[in-house]
Amino acid sequence: MSESVELPVVVGRGVDEIRSVSASQVTMTQLMSPQDTNLFGNVFGGVILAAVDRIAYVCASRHAGGPSVTASFDQVDFRSPIQIGEIVTLNASVNTVGRTSVEVGVRVTAEDVQGGDRRHTNSCYVTMVAIDGEGHPVEVPRLMLETEDELRRHLDAEERRKARLLLARSRAARQA
Ligand SMILES: CC(C)(COP(=O)(O)OP(=O)(O)OC[C@H]1O[C@@H](n2cnc3c(N)ncnc32)[C@H](O)[C@@H]1OP(=O)(O)O)[C@@H](O)C(=O)NCCC(=O)NCCS
Repeated sequence: MSESVELPVVVGRGVDEIRSVSASQVTMTQLMSPQDTNLFGNVFGGVILAAVDRIAYVCASRHAGGPSVTASFDQVDFRSPIQIGEIVTLNASVNTVGRTSVEVGVRVTAEDVQGGDRRHTNSCYVTMVAIDGEGHPVEVPRLMLETEDELRRHLDAEERRKARLLLARSRAARQA
């Protein structure tokens, strides 16, 4: 798929139902409290990862129309520390969908409540898999990309999926 693709475009290999990216977008805001921090007043990375996992669940399950589980987290780099008393905002949206999987992109920003200074602290890509009542993967609706940004995120997500598959195959070959 090239950059010159005419929008909107529908991607995915799941059920015939189609949902837009905007239909499942989620924003969550939380205040960083003393229980979230280490002795230096910086927030533990795990607190942010837990919030990312939660919002990815909400976003993917909204798209799927049912529950999902976390299959994987891509590499996460923390660009700057988050301090006690700062407001953390997470924005999540579906980047792409496969047959049963949904890649959710989560952007995290921190805001100093006094200065109002807002900075991007990290972005994460979480693959969630839709499941039925017995935990088996189920097909998800296809995804309608309506903007250039949505198309770019989908193409980037496809590159990550290919890289993940290559890595999984080379691991399997080493273990065989
Ligand atoms: C995720 C899970 C449901 C996949 O089950 P599975 O039997 O391997 O299913 P499949 O091989 O049919 O793969 C289903 C989908 O998951 C994707 N998938 C599986 N493992 C993956 C991984 N490690 N990373 C990214 N995607 C993965 C596959 O690519 C496939 O996507 P597609 O249908 O869109 O093509 C299963 O491994 C599981 O339940 N894991 C535990 C999840 C969990 O408990 N998370 C919370 C941890 S506390």
